[in-house]
Amino acid sequence: MSDRGISRREFAKSAVAIGGTAALAACLDRFDSPDVPSGTDPSTLPARQHAWKEYLERDDAGNARLSRHHVTLLLDYEREGTPTEADREQVTDALHSLERAYGWENDGLMFTLGYSPAYFDRFDADPAGVELPEPAALAPFEDPEFDTPDAILHLASDHASVVLAAEAALNGERETVNDEEMAASFDGVFGVADRRTGFVGAGLPAENQDVSGIPDSEPVPEESPLFMGYKGRFDGNQATEEMVTIPDGAFAGGTTQHLSYIRLQLQQWYEQETHDQRVSKMFCPAHAEEGRVEGVGENLGTDSGVGDCADDVVDRSRREGVVGHAQKTARAREDGRPVILRRDFDSTDGGQAGLHFLSIQRSIEDFVATKSMMNGTDVAEESGVGQSVNNGILQYMTVERRGNYLLPPRDLRALPPANPT
Ligand code: HEM
Repeated sequence: MSDRGISRREFAKSAVAIGGTAALAACLDRFDSPDVPSGTDPSTLPARQHAWKEYLERDDAGNARLSRHHVTLLLDYEREGTPTEADREQVTDALHSLERAYGWENDGLMFTLGYSPAYFDRFDADPAGVELPEPAALAPFEDPEFDTPDAILHLASDHASVVLAAEAALNGERETVNDEEMAASFDGVFGVADRRTGFVGAGLPAENQDVSGIPDSEPVPEESPLFMGYKGRFDGNQATEEMVTIPDGAFAGGTTQHLSYIRLQLQQWYEQETHDQRVSKMFCPAHAEEGRVEGVGENLGTDSGVGDCADDVVDRSRREGVVGHAQKTARAREDGRPVILRRDFDSTDGGQAGLHFLSIQRSIEDFVATKSMMNGTDVAEESGVGQSVNNGILQYMTVERRGNYLLPPRDLRALPPANPT
């Protein structure tokens, strides 16, 4: 991997996408070892694995800011049958080592470990008290493949070298990370079935737009945290961590995770649409008419304001001939808030512009309900809006993969039984 003519951000992203110890070495060689905060006594971390918000930095407006580099590892349990106590201890020891090595913060490392319906098949039982369906197609117009690993690990850090070092340590390729000795690795317990990588944050999408799916004119604005040119995940447009937490039963304190891979085709988005048309399709036509979104949308503060557009969506669509993505999905709100908490990130995996849409919610049903609103099939049937044309951002994306997972509470995250007592 040559660093000739490659910017710092592009280099870091490429290193994460390529992965492995050589990429890590190249990263450390180019940037020196970043000063990374060390971790803490694992017992002081929150009981919920997904309790990130209080530890995340804020952006200028005060929204929680997700770390810049992401790796998700799809893992298969290497043994037949139900897990052994020794394997549980090994996984626990490995994760505790990472928690001692890195601060639970943007600059350090945050992670979650979840389990699929295929994993629970080993127990011939569903996870107690949790509906965890097999992944399914969620629109009449999609034909995704389904992810069926046993487990999924999501690693996030502002430093490319931290996600790479943590991954190498879990794979048994590094004995120490951030001066902390690894008490164990995943070696012999989990094998990596697939690896997905990505990034989020101003600068990274612009720097990495030389991929299939994005026109050669380099249209992605420097300030945009995502390929599609707008800021997302305002705090006011997210479910709270409390809302997405499983309230009772054996997995109380856990949550569910959906991960889809969405391929982006942004030729027309950037070359045929104006800013106002993009705002209509991403947010809501009224936002375009009223000029409510400046540039990438930093001016929206902590709320996109689409709550105002989500009534009478079909009637409005008849009048406008176009419907917004956020406007449609806002119909899935409960008590005025979305029911899913989005932690999605862009990707150039396979040389293709895409997005790993990772969200957590109390039940997978909440995701399905939100996606059903995003489909806008009712809008297409009852107005001049097409099933994809003028129907939010559907024309510019294709869902390629889907997977469902349970993220147990922290004390059950190492190979949990289906019915913990
Ligand atoms: C290419 C993929 C996607 C992109 C680029 C994208 C981008 C955005 C943006 C810019 C907003 C408005 C700002 C905000 O509230 O964050 C938004 C809102 C939202 N999106 Fe997406 N989105 C994508 C896919 C999805 C999917 C697959 C879902 C789930 C089914 C989803 C659910 C939502 C929800 C729940 C909101 C907030 C609605 C509300 O305020 O009630 N998005 N999205």
